Amino acid sequence: MCGIVGYTGKNPAKDILFRNLQKLEYRGYDSAGIALQTADGLQVVRRLGKVANLVQASADTDPTSTCGIAHTRWATHGRPSEANAHPHRSCDNKVAVCHNGIVENYAELRERLVAEGHTFRSETDTEVVAHLVEKYYRGDLLSAARAAVREMIGAFGLVIMHADEPGTIVVARKDSPIVIGQGKDGCYVASDVIAVAEATRDVVVLEDYQFAKLTPEGMSFCNGDGQTIEPEHMRVDWEIDETERGNWPDFMLKEIHEQPRVVRDTLKGRMVNGLLSIDELELTPDELGFIDRVYVIACGTSYHAGLIAKDLIENWARIPTEVEVASEFRYRNPIITPSTLVVAVSQSGETADTLAAIRDARIRGAKVFGITNVIGSRIARESDGVIYTKAKKEVAVASTKSFIGQVVSLTLLAMLLAQSKNRLNTAQIRVLFRELADTAGQIEEILSDTKAIEAAAHDCADAQSALYIGRGLASTVCYEGALKLKEISYVHAEAYAAGEMKHGPIALLHEGFPVVAVATQSPIYDKTLSNIEESKARGAKIVAVATEGDDQIGKYADHVLFIPKVRDAFMPITASVVLQLFARAIAVERGCDVDQPRNLAKSVTVE
Ligand code: F6R
Repeated sequence: MCGIVGYTGKNPAKDILFRNLQKLEYRGYDSAGIALQTADGLQVVRRLGKVANLVQASADTDPTSTCGIAHTRWATHGRPSEANAHPHRSCDNKVAVCHNGIVENYAELRERLVAEGHTFRSETDTEVVAHLVEKYYRGDLLSAARAAVREMIGAFGLVIMHADEPGTIVVARKDSPIVIGQGKDGCYVASDVIAVAEATRDVVVLEDYQFAKLTPEGMSFCNGDGQTIEPEHMRVDWEIDETERGNWPDFMLKEIHEQPRVVRDTLKGRMVNGLLSIDELELTPDELGFIDRVYVIACGTSYHAGLIAKDLIENWARIPTEVEVASEFRYRNPIITPSTLVVAVSQSGETADTLAAIRDARIRGAKVFGITNVIGSRIARESDGVIYTKAKKEVAVASTKSFIGQVVSLTLLAMLLAQSKNRLNTAQIRVLFRELADTAGQIEEILSDTKAIEAAAHDCADAQSALYIGRGLASTVCYEGALKLKEISYVHAEAYAAGEMKHGPIALLHEGFPVVAVATQSPIYDKTLSNIEESKARGAKIVAVATEGDDQIGKYADHVLFIPKVRDAFMPITASVVLQLFARAIAVERGCDVDQPRNLAKSVTVE
């Protein structure tokens, strides 16, 4: 949440900062700002809206400046406006600060600073940092930053400059990601590795309460007491062009089309000599056999992947499984014992609530296993074991390929648990694995002809609301499908277990109201069909996701979107792809920004 970049070196800073900031726009795009070190002090430009507006507004800034910081904002404290855009400055305009996170005690700090004579110019929590640094500055920015951080409660990734220290950027972090690297031409800092990786593949991921000082000559690190430290370095091993859109109209469509590859990569190396292998779990077969309760903790789309896992783990391994949104779990008093396995699912690996929940679970004695897409992310580092989903960088704010990676990874976990409980034998596991692998080709089949999906989307594009219904695993697919629709097209969409319709939601139906029904072949297909009939009888427009060869469904549905025949357990993998394409097609019809929907950000690093 919020993107931060900084550069100090031999080259002009402005273009480097803008290029890198644009890579972080997925973290927020309410406003953007830049501060450059110049011979006349700090030059600051801020604009409402996307980075492109800022680039335009910065045409006259100093092209020779070789040190600067910049920010793209997702508003927490203070509405999106130019005054609330970062960087924020001290009263004397000598300190500039960009911040990602929340300073929780900002109100109290602000009151004190105002009483001491400081004048505030924004409604943000961040501005207190600029004034604190000003207050403690005695000719050494690093010491002033350490003193300021001592007063702050909350989460922060900070980059700070002082007009009296040309070429210097001071960096601090607690609970918000910060990555630093030294390239050939200078030092780079950002809140995501993609904005540093072009300059260097050797990066430092700052830990909580570690500080860095960047100058054109190099970088140094210290702890809160000012003692020099040598932080861990990490190697970035993916290709930069994976984050380019190429000829695709948007990242979301590109990423949807990458899903067959994600399935294949996630499964690669998992079947060794006919046996399922997830070494990263770091649990012996005995320890696995000991597990008697599973909690899946996640948010948003990742939570929906967890709902699918519940069904599979309970069905195959017969282990009671709870799925909880992390923001609730962390404030409850969940029943955790040493035989509880907590599985944290997070694309970004940095979602604040999920991170807090696993910290709490570990304190309570659970083994925590992470499923994430980001190597070296906080959740990966703080889990006892981790599966990486192999989706590679996901740029579109709406998750697609990472969701499929999560579902496939969780399916493997469910199979492993079933294997360790002797609920599935080796032959059964092999059959399941083969069928799971087949879903890659089935997704390709869906992607090869999307005309029916586009026609259905065209027919529903003017709707204000939609209902998604399904039973069993199909209902979980509906939750995810409805989330996709509302987040990128702003059509109000709700998902219900189809049997619940007559307990309330059916009152919403009227002539032409879209009902998306996932009615694939399963033992409860006929029940879903009855619910479709009930909706149809009330004038609803039915868009059905059904299994190829179903010759009944056409009698009830206005549009039928077929998926290849697949075992019910794996149906969410293919049916979800149809609903991703459906949501995207509606968003495109409505002229929405598919990749960067309003009010959202890809990484949610605040509570
Ligand atoms: C929706 C979406 C979000 C995320 C949620 C959790 O398309 O992407 O709902 O799933 O914010 O994020 P992660 O998975 O990074 O913890």
